Amino acid sequence: VPLVPEISLQVADEAVPLWQKTEEDLATDGLPPPFWAFAWAGGQALARHVLDHPELVAGKRVLDLGSGSGLVAIAAAMSGAAHVLACDPDDFALAAMEVNAALNGVVVTMSAKDVLDGDAPEREVVLVGDLFYERDLAARVVAFLDRCRAGGAGVLIGDPGRSYLPKDRLVAVADYAVPVTRELEDAEIKRTRVWRFA
Ligand SMILES: C[S@@+](CC[C@H](N)C(=O)[O-])C[C@H]1O[C@@H](n2cnc3c(N)ncnc32)[C@H](O)[C@@H]1O
Repeated sequence: VPLVPEISLQVADEAVPLWQKTEEDLATDGLPPPFWAFAWAGGQALARHVLDHPELVAGKRVLDLGSGSGLVAIAAAMSGAAHVLACDPDDFALAAMEVNAALNGVVVTMSAKDVLDGDAPEREVVLVGDLFYERDLAARVVAFLDRCRAGGAGVLIGDPGRSYLPKDRLVAVADYAVPVTRELEDAEIKRTRVWRFA
């Protein structure tokens, strides 16, 4: 992972061919894009931040929301979190996380349950890497994070400024220049911030 060389992930070089091949092999269509096969800019920045500031998660119960490859969850586990729950409704993400957690020698609990419309989980820290790319999803994430805050959790978000990032709710805490792939982004380096959800 370019910004996080301590962590290795199994990732793809190309998004669309992987997506098409998965649909062909399963004789299905309508699968979501293979988000799980890449280390997104927001996740890279957030993983870097957590590894450089382990006190944010050490000894705490952590939720990684929209875990994808598991990058942020792995960073939290490596930083000494007491327990890490990685949530992603895509079953392929869970399979990727399992491979990637083992590759990095950490234990992460995984769930494909969509937690967004439920009660806030009992977690002291909620981490969100690159989850503000769709309007409806972003609105649900904000409502969920409000409940997490009300329940006493601290919320950190890594995001390169996606369209539905709720900037009016955020306080910037760190700035990173994240190397990314042209396969996903319009630039080779994405300026990406870590934000506190206020
Ligand atoms: C752009 S990827 C980011 C993955 C990872 N956090 C990173 O930064 O590399 C967004 C992820 O959010 C997941 N996602 C979509 N809807 C979700 C939901 N309702 N709850 C949790 N995760 C969701 C997707 O399946 C995808 O894996």
